[in-house]
Amino acid sequence: MAILDGRKVSGEMLERLSHDVKRMQLSHLQPKLAVILVGDNPASLSYIKQKKKACEKTGVAWEQIDYSTAVTTDELVAKIHELNKDIKTHGILVQLPLPDHIFTPDVFKAIDPKKDVDGFTAYNLGKMFLSKSFEDLAPCTPMGVIRMFEYYDIDVKGKEAVIVGHSNIVGKPLAAMLLNRDATVTICHVHTEDLAAHTKRADIVCVAVGKANLITEDMVKVGAIVVDIGFNRLDNGKMVGDADFKGLEKKVNWITPVPGGCGPMTVSCLIENTVRAAMRIHNFK
Ligand code: GUN
Repeated sequence: MAILDGRKVSGEMLERLSHDVKRMQLSHLQPKLAVILVGDNPASLSYIKQKKKACEKTGVAWEQIDYSTAVTTDELVAKIHELNKDIKTHGILVQLPLPDHIFTPDVFKAIDPKKDVDGFTAYNLGKMFLSKSFEDLAPCTPMGVIRMFEYYDIDVKGKEAVIVGHSNIVGKPLAAMLLNRDATVTICHVHTEDLAAHTKRADIVCVAVGKANLITEDMVKVGAIVVDIGFNRLDNGKMVGDADFKGLEKKVNWITPVPGGCGPMTVSCLIENTVRAAMRIHNFK
């Protein structure tokens, strides 16, 4: 068994990106990320802290715009329009989840696709479905999984990949990205009748549902690759993923730890998207 070390891969990505930022700074340019946070959801605060740290490490400028949960959809859309026009801002990120009274699709629709560093607008999501070469400002968490496979020379072509979780920000885009690389892809979700029947035949199991210990040793085949995208806080305060790491590590070939697997990869892909967006906006090579 070997570890897919997200902290290491992400650290190397950030190091490379900091050189790109330095090159831009020589031309008096600096990538800037604007983050909109509504309310004070503890998970959101923790994610944002990691994103801010990565910006500081790489030299990407950071602006955080905080709103109370009383904010309206119109107010958020107006702020996004302002950021779309601001020539110093290259990336706009609206931290999810938003309160129930906000209509999230309208908020994302307002973001200029050129600044959509989360890759959540219909334009960027749609492009990603065309082919690998159109994956540009693609969603950060699934892109992080792909970057990790690239780093460890894991070729997914022809492999049986089973994704557990069908969210718009992880499961569905990850399926498209794996398909773009010629894996055979199945997406399972909360209504799947016999989850284990699917995961047992998988060469690659990617799980992103937010349920601790959902994937256990008896559910995977010997030599599988397990990518754990879940992030759950147990009652004792410990953070764990969706896979039972202790049970699985004896049986699988590769596995991501939680924490230290997909989380840091998401953050470095966000910085990659921000630097890429800034370079494109300024026609900087
Ligand atoms: N909330 C949980 N994950 C994400 C993410 O990748 N992007 C945003 N904007 N919000 C999130």
